Amino acid sequence: MTPDLRTRYLGLDLRSPIVASSTPLTGDLSFVKQLEDAGAGAVVLPSLFEEEILHDELEMSRALDQGTEQFAEALGYFPNVAEFKGVGDRYLERIAKTKAALAVPVIASLNADSNGSWTRYARLMQDAGADALELNLYHVAADPEIGSSFREQADIDLVAEVANAITIPFSVKLSPYYAALANFAGRVVGAGADGLVLFNRFYQPDLDLETFDVINKVSLSHPTELRLPLRWIGMLRPQLGAGTGLAATSGIHGATDVVKALAVGADITMMASAILRHGAGHVGTVERELIAWMEEREYESVAQLRGSATAANVPNPTAFERANYLATLHSWTTPREVGV
Ligand SMILES: Cc1cc2nc3c(=O)[nH]c(=O)nc-3n(C[C@H](O)[C@H](O)[C@H](O)COP(=O)(O)O)c2cc1C
Repeated sequence: MTPDLRTRYLGLDLRSPIVASSTPLTGDLSFVKQLEDAGAGAVVLPSLFEEEILHDELEMSRALDQGTEQFAEALGYFPNVAEFKGVGDRYLERIAKTKAALAVPVIASLNADSNGSWTRYARLMQDAGADALELNLYHVAADPEIGSSFREQADIDLVAEVANAITIPFSVKLSPYYAALANFAGRVVGAGADGLVLFNRFYQPDLDLETFDVINKVSLSHPTELRLPLRWIGMLRPQLGAGTGLAATSGIHGATDVVKALAVGADITMMASAILRHGAGHVGTVERELIAWMEEREYESVAQLRGSATAANVPNPTAFERANYLATLHSWTTPREVGV
């Protein structure tokens, strides 16, 4: 019998643990349809950014101000505010269209740095039909005046604000750069998040050596990048309990990556780079390989596989923590020793 791939994430029933992560391609209606046809369990839309909403608000207020200092005869002129359509409006339309086109859950994404009036978009995304929301906390702690406790509290306040605004489930996509991540993850869940997405991948700027310009260029991930989310999901799963949704992102390229993430306790795995590199059909390829892997080892379901190697289950739980540091360094074998 074919293994049962069904999984549950944020209270949503998904046909498969392979989910299309947020990228520009998930904003393309025909591409998301291909992703669904290839077997994606859900689709995360590209993010709507706080900066884009603030920009919309600025444009709207400019439009409203226009003409306020004109003569009476010109007062018949009003900007057509009703027709003003900003990035935010287009995003909400995209949610509705994607939702209408797909049977699998559609997760909207809000990318934020601070709380403010723009968080009303969480509610608007819900009203537009999103099944769930992913709140992406993306910032670089570059201000020497702002310490980690202040920064973390601002994030927690933002999570609580979103939790108050919506009734659909939501997850928080985190970076790995929190000083005390296990504590912070628990506080995010305590503030109302239904799940965590680990981890946000920061794009590091490069330098052009001819001009010394800073170059911002996206580079696609490598499967070794999965090790960071693997370690943290393995440690967090027993701490947070089965009720908290956990999604692995960064380095999910093939079926063995999916197996590893599920084994450490992820409910779903999210794929971005591999889809950008190989196309929507890659989701189907990975699903077939996952089924073959499970059949060969007689796993009947994702539920049976999930969580079999968390910090609570492995023979040496400290292997997830500092204890493996020394052992790992000592495991290095020089090319000469292995006869290369
Ligand atoms: C071109 C590109 C655009 C992305 N845009 C978003 C985005 O809008 N919002 C978001 O939360 N993540 C975004 N991501 C991050 C991915 O969703 C994913 O978390 C990250 O790339 C790690 O997964 P991967 O190793 O499968 O690429 C983007 C990634 C890429 C490569």
